Amino acid sequence: MRERPVPKDQEIKLGEEEFIVSKTDTTGKITYANRVFMEISGYGERELLGVQHNIIRHPDMPRALFKLLWDTLKEKKEFFGFVKNLCKDGSYYWVFANITPDIDNEGRVVGYYSVRRQAPISAIRTVEPIYREMVRIEKGAGGVKQGIAKAQGYLQDLLQSKRTDYEKFALELYG
Ligand SMILES: Cc1cc2nc3c(=O)[nH]c(=O)nc-3n(C[C@H](O)[C@H](O)[C@H](O)COP(=O)(O)O)c2cc1C
Repeated sequence: MRERPVPKDQEIKLGEEEFIVSKTDTTGKITYANRVFMEISGYGERELLGVQHNIIRHPDMPRALFKLLWDTLKEKKEFFGFVKNLCKDGSYYWVFANITPDIDNEGRVVGYYSVRRQAPISAIRTVEPIYREMVRIEKGAGGVKQGIAKAQGYLQDLLQSKRTDYEKFALELYG
C-alpha cells in the first residue's frame, strides 16, 4: 500500500490561466495528467499513470460527494463540483471540477476526462462547512454505507431548501 501524505494546513492556488487536466479509464485509473496537475499535486507522471485518481483524495472530502460524482458519470452525464485535493507533501488545493464521460462512436463509455480550475474563495467558504458537516455525519453513522446515505440526505435536504440541486448550486457558486 502506498503511504498517504499527512494533511497540513497549507493551501496551494492555481493561477488564473491554469487548469488541471486528467483522464482516467472506466475504473478511475489515471491515463493522462497535464503538467499543471503534476506541478500542483507534486506527483510525477510515473507516480500518477495507472494509479487510481483517489491518490489525491483529501480526508476532508465527504464520501457522499464522490458517490454523487460516480452516479452522475454512470448516467453518462457530466459532473460539476468543488473538490479539495491532497498534494504529495500534505498541502491542499480547492478546485472547481468538470468531469465528463469519454464516449466512443458506438456510445460506449471508454473513460473519463476532467478539467479543473481554481475555486473562488467565496465558493470555498460556502462549500467547506457543508462538506465538514457531511464528513461528521459519515464518521458518526456506524458504517460506511449508512454514513454515505445520511450525508447524502443532509446535502439533499439542504439543496432542496434552497430549491436547487448540486449541479446548479455548484455552477452558481463558480459564477
Ligand atoms: C476523471 C476523474 C477525475 C477525478 N478527479 C478527482 C480528484 O481530483 N480528486 C479526487 O479526490 N477524486 C477524483 N476522482 C474520483 C476518484 O476516482 C475517487 O472516487 C475519489 O477520490 C474517492 O475515492 P474512493 O472512491 O476510493 O473513496 C476523479 C474521478 C474521475 C473519473
